[in-house]
Amino acid sequence: MCGIVGYVGTDHAKEKIIDGLKRLEYRGYDSAGIALPIDGKIQVRKAVGEIKNLEAKIASPDFDAPMGIGHTRWATHGEPTELNAHPHLNMEETIAIVHNGIIENYQEIREWLATEYGIVFKSETDSEVIAHLIGLFYDGDLLEAVNKAVAEMRGAYAVVAIAVDEPDKIVAVRKDAPLVAGIGKGFNFIASDIPAVLKYVQGNIYLIENNETVVLTKDDIVIYDENGNKVDREIYVVDWKADSADKADYDHFMLKEIHEQPAVISETLMSRLNPDDSIRLDDISLTKEDIDNFNKIYIVACGTAYHAGLVGKMVIEKMAHIPVEIDVASEFRYRDTFIDDKTLFIAISQSGETLDTLAALRDAKERGARILSVVNAVGSSIARESHDVFYTLAGPEVAVASTKAYTTQLICMYLIGLYMGSTRGTIDKDYYNYMLGELKALPEKVSRVLENEEFLKNLAARYYFKDNVFFIGRGLDSGVSYEGSLKLKEISYIHSFAIAAGELKHGTIALMDSESLVVALATQDRLYEKMVSNIVEVQARGARIIGMAKEGRTEIEKTSDEVIYIPQCADEVAPVLAVVPLQIFAYYVALERGCNIDKPKNLAKSVTVE
Ligand code: AGP
Repeated sequence: MCGIVGYVGTDHAKEKIIDGLKRLEYRGYDSAGIALPIDGKIQVRKAVGEIKNLEAKIASPDFDAPMGIGHTRWATHGEPTELNAHPHLNMEETIAIVHNGIIENYQEIREWLATEYGIVFKSETDSEVIAHLIGLFYDGDLLEAVNKAVAEMRGAYAVVAIAVDEPDKIVAVRKDAPLVAGIGKGFNFIASDIPAVLKYVQGNIYLIENNETVVLTKDDIVIYDENGNKVDREIYVVDWKADSADKADYDHFMLKEIHEQPAVISETLMSRLNPDDSIRLDDISLTKEDIDNFNKIYIVACGTAYHAGLVGKMVIEKMAHIPVEIDVASEFRYRDTFIDDKTLFIAISQSGETLDTLAALRDAKERGARILSVVNAVGSSIARESHDVFYTLAGPEVAVASTKAYTTQLICMYLIGLYMGSTRGTIDKDYYNYMLGELKALPEKVSRVLENEEFLKNLAARYYFKDNVFFIGRGLDSGVSYEGSLKLKEISYIHSFAIAAGELKHGTIALMDSESLVVALATQDRLYEKMVSNIVEVQARGARIIGMAKEGRTEIEKTSDEVIYIPQCADEVAPVLAVVPLQIFAYYVALERGCNIDKPKNLAKSVTVE
């Protein structure tokens, strides 16, 4: 997912654009660039690799201007090279653009421009066609030229453009890729995500909706809908602290975000409770009739969000007595699913921009399902296209490896289950109150788990060289084992594998030998005995065992080489506590292996391609 920053003000655009791009580094990128109108020409500088390589090219004080645009590129079409890096220019170098997304019909546009207008392309990218289209239609009015250009384009795009003849104006347009406008005093920003502008605008932003165009000058931001009518948009005040998108005094965003979990779990939970402990969903229009009408729920997501759905499925079925299907979004659309107006479709997504999940949501919506999304990124595409949004209040999650988003997604799953269960009368008041008590106790219990960090760091030091790690569990522990396995593999590059413990004997146990490391989750009271016998099975094949159980369940020490204890809690909420040691373990294993923890190779924070 590319990063976009545009600034228009009275001074030094360069430093603000570079600072903003650095705050978007978490999105993953392989090159960066900046364009400034200087002395009647658009000056462009680009560099492959980290932003510091670009900074080395723009150090001269002469390279600066009161406005400009910048970009960090995550290559989709064309190798990561300077030529392919953004910003892109039209042939006369009077227009510069940056783009996030994909222009699906770029080849035909390329051919048309080359054949009809002799346009010579410099890059292999789809994005470059946008600069040439705007240049072709430009007749002194950038807004008009941008509108004409996007009318020729198909695909997903956030485009930000400047024209050398209008050096006080930025024009941007959004379709299926995020854009926010930062509201300053005597300056304004446009960016692909909130952290880029947060520290400059005291949290005051405009969320740009799909098919809207924005014109920014230093004193004004005007938003137009797809029919060219001005939109009167409310200011959205972001209540994150500016430093929440900084690493603070942690070595990595991932460790900071692991430690933020007690606070954001509490925030996500308590923001949803009324003084009488009823669940507040007044911004969600699910009525009792709606809930009684549902006869099926689909939970659809990717990666860690999907793993939160694995827990959500079991919890919601238990509490609301509705069948819950769960699917990875990339598979959902290719199954013959039974979706109708009695279906509740729950999309879970931290970024709210995962194209697989967005595509599945659109498919379900088209077939009549009610769409509820659980999303972290305010105003993201998935949030906007849902009938109702249940925001996780995790704040910006910068590390590619998702941690606090997962645990706050779990909190939303419990709240949805409790709300639906109490509305449908499938849980009684005692159970509701018991569960709420268990949820309220989680922040303090997660803090207690975090106090175990040193032990987990030492555990990682003993096992970081392992090449094959298995995560096993039963029931809710099975869902958590998938998440623990993903955390380890995506930041340490160790081959790790999760499997329902009861499934081991059906083949996988053939892999077990004295080199194997098995992380065995046994937090579910009602499945504890069965888990211990699974542990014995793998131990008999020589594997090393890291067992996990609730405090007091010391029998597990007889069959495990190491034991991680989590605080006593109800089985239902154990996943929130069980995942935290696995996050920390993965972090320190990756650290021992010298991996790039916040930006693992080949990965992006949000996957906006199918
Ligand atoms: C999780 O650590 C990964 N970064 C990845 O699996 C991620 O969860 C997945 O791409 C879904 O992203 P989303 O939650 O933003 O939709």
